Amino acid sequence: MVPASLVPRLFLLLAFLGFLTGVSEAHKNHVVGGSFGWKIPPNLTFYKEWAATKTFVVGDRLVFLYRSGAQNVLEVSAEDYKRCGSSNVTNMYYIGPTIVELETPGSHFFYSGVGLHCEAGQKLAVDVGTTAPPPPFVADESLYSIGSDDDTAQTPAPSPVKPVSGAATTGIALLAALSACLLHASLV
Ligand SMILES: *[C@@H]1O[C@H](CO)[C@@H](O)[C@H](O)[C@H]1NC(C)=O
Ligand SMILES: *[C@@H]1O[C@H](CO)[C@@H](O)[C@H](O)[C@H]1NC(C)=O
Repeated sequence: MVPASLVPRLFLLLAFLGFLTGVSEAHKNHVVGGSFGWKIPPNLTFYKEWAATKTFVVGDRLVFLYRSGAQNVLEVSAEDYKRCGSSNVTNMYYIGPTIVELETPGSHFFYSGVGLHCEAGQKLAVDVGTTAPPPPFVADESLYSIGSDDDTAQTPAPSPVKPVSGAATTGIALLAALSACLLHASLV
């Protein structure tokens, strides 16, 4: 188990990094369960109540905070989610923390496949909505041609979009690395 004293620090760290990457990409990192993290909840509706306070859109990420071995994350069908079954497991994650990007709209279902954790309420259903693509950082191209008929006017290069995803990827790598460090530190 991650020592309880470490969880708030991890949460703050992830929330901060999530804020940074969220701003640059207009997508959010949702730390599942907030500062409680991903473990057996105090009651059966804990994660349902958590999800009800959030809005999820395509491109957002779920951040499951847990120590490898103590928990895991299985993505399953609606039917499996209801029954804590495992006849249709679409994704399995064993290395905490797990970051899942919500790539498609609609419902997504997860639970911890360790022991009877799912039966104890360690399960999460999220409804993912679509959203318009975030506005590009470059000014609208029409602005460049206003008041100018000059055919040789330089077209703004589309490249400014690239560093954004690069920054986000770096953010995630950093986030994973820092979390791994903290978790490791907690074990020694
Ligand atoms: C479940 O637990 C959470 C956290 O302790 C609490 O806020 C919530 O009210 C509880 N829900 C029910 C239905 O008891
Ligand atoms: C498994 O789940 C996926 C996604 O929820 C669904 O599209 C597919 O039909 C399911 N397959 C079976 C055999 O239930």
